[in-house]
Amino acid sequence: MTSNQDRRDFYSRIAAHYDEIVVNDVRYEAHVLVPQRLLELYAKPHARVLDLACGTGLGSMRFFEAGFDVVGIDYSSGMIDVARTRPYSQLYCQSIEDELPVPDDSFDIVTALGVTEFILDPAGLFKRIWRTLQPNGLCAVTIPKPTDAAAELGIKTYTVDEFLKFFDLDDYKLLDQIEFYGWESGHLGKLDGRENDPHHRVDYAASFLQKKSG
Ligand SMILES: C[S@@+](CC[C@H](N)C(=O)[O-])C[C@H]1O[C@@H](n2cnc3c(N)ncnc32)[C@H](O)[C@@H]1O
Repeated sequence: MTSNQDRRDFYSRIAAHYDEIVVNDVRYEAHVLVPQRLLELYAKPHARVLDLACGTGLGSMRFFEAGFDVVGIDYSSGMIDVARTRPYSQLYCQSIEDELPVPDDSFDIVTALGVTEFILDPAGLFKRIWRTLQPNGLCAVTIPKPTDAAAELGIKTYTVDEFLKFFDLDDYKLLDQIEFYGWESGHLGKLDGRENDPHHRVDYAASFLQKKSG
């Protein structure tokens, strides 16, 4: 199991090549599919978005194109340096497992893409997300599904039902769920000089939730 410090260093080392590799080699889809579905569900001309574990900013691109105001948080300084080349209104370099540096009830949309496999306390994270969302605000997270390959990688995985227990359904309404291919580890290892890393494949679900208003 990789420590948080190792993971942060890993993402900082690969940051300059992350977009190219995840789009072309890994054929990552979360950063396209999840924002696309959120835009359909949200259907308003403006939004304030919080992208948790924003990385280089891939998952914010559709929101920039829509003219939304986007704030990003990531604990890798290398990833944040790349994100600074994109039109975020604010970026913070810190763990999303710490208190989030944003006001209560201030976002229409909160996303956490490609990161829950690394989160130690998902229930704590979803309490913090709830705090930052406006009433009726939307939240979307990717969920790494249990497979033999994911188990060999030693990452956290969940069935969708297990994962939804981290949300208090008195606070949130479940709007939708989708399932799709997540990522393959071998391509990322190559970026870090490990040519022979096995290609363990991780599959994702994504859940879309709405903060209840009352
Ligand atoms: C697979 S990348 C996903 C990046 C982006 N969301 C995307 O979809 O392209 C995982 C990101 O999560 C970040 N990360 C992992 N654990 C984190 C934590 N506890 N707090 C903040 N960022 C974290 C890493 O630095 C990395 O940028």
